[in-house]
Amino acid sequence: MILSSSRAAARLRLTLCSSRLQASCAGIREPIKVCASNSSTAGGGGGVPLAAQPTNTTTVRGAQEKWLQRFQSENIPEPETSISNIIAHVLELSGPGDVGDHQNSSLSEQQIRKIEEMCECRLARMPLQYIIREWDFRDLTLKMIPPVFIPRPETEELVELILQQMDSQKETFFLEIGSGSGAISLSILKHVPKSSGIAIDQSRLACELTRENAAAVGLDSRLRIFKHKLINDLPDTLADEQFDMIVSNPPYVPSVLLPTLEPEIKIYEDLRALDGGNDGLTVIKAILRIASKHLTKDGVLWLEVDISHPPVIEKFLAQHGDTMGLRFVASYKDLFQKDRFVEIVKSC
Ligand SMILES: C[S@@+](CC[C@H](N)C(=O)[O-])C[C@H]1O[C@@H](n2cnc3c(N)ncnc32)[C@H](O)[C@@H]1O
Repeated sequence: MILSSSRAAARLRLTLCSSRLQASCAGIREPIKVCASNSSTAGGGGGVPLAAQPTNTTTVRGAQEKWLQRFQSENIPEPETSISNIIAHVLELSGPGDVGDHQNSSLSEQQIRKIEEMCECRLARMPLQYIIREWDFRDLTLKMIPPVFIPRPETEELVELILQQMDSQKETFFLEIGSGSGAISLSILKHVPKSSGIAIDQSRLACELTRENAAAVGLDSRLRIFKHKLINDLPDTLADEQFDMIVSNPPYVPSVLLPTLEPEIKIYEDLRALDGGNDGLTVIKAILRIASKHLTKDGVLWLEVDISHPPVIEKFLAQHGDTMGLRFVASYKDLFQKDRFVEIVKSC
């Protein structure tokens, strides 16, 4: 629905579907340069002497051609998206779609230097979202700071599903487990004006980023944020809370698959955001226990999971759901027709 911003339409797909991860890691080339920062001059230059590049880099067209070729020759994923977003960011355009209108514009020395620094980071496989320090999630532009998890397009689909099923006029009190940049909670708060929520995350940086993004989009008065690692219980201050809804895009990649992730993910993102333990279900099982204790009657739990998980969760609840007061309602497919989203209801 609201995927209309030009940058959102041209997004990098850092998908976490494990089968695709295994396939994509086959193309990883060594050695991988690690980009530590995008604010100071990036060193190196990747070993290609500038003199060997005849392109006129003082225009947008020249810079675009030069870096497109370089990205392609170094097998950087999404080369066109990468350079278009970087140029759009440096020129302060509204999105990569506008770069075409500025092909003949001259670049200042400062702009050229900034583009080069950012492109060097991309050559080091830093995710574009960290390089330009922001990204669109639905209709929100959120700050992105490494290593806090970058929200994925699939999660926009989860939010869409949740919003379709929520009564936008009803007061709803929700809990998000693992808020990352705050993408899910803030989207709900924005579209359900009477909602309020609590977000928890084990990462201090994630909590700070959620807080900063909440303030930036003017939704901080309806969101409380707690740094807490969920193992069995919520923090003591929340021990008596009951929620109408719990939502989570938890870590769900089986630990054994972490080494197979793309460099963008395994070098730059917090692996605690991804590591779901032996079977990928460690945090998911903890969330089910929390839902059993902290959902109101008829309250709903929404989860984004790996494609292998919905039948496992359904079977688990068929065995333990009565004791836990939880009922598996349905699983839903993502744009790739893979079952990725699970709806569970508190039955008593
Ligand atoms: C896959 S990321 C999702 C972030 C965000 N909700 C999104 O969809 O973009 C999972 C998040 O859960 C947090 N997390 C992982 N294990 C956790 C735990 N046991 N308790 C609380 N937060 C946890 C991570 O720090 C990370 O921010």
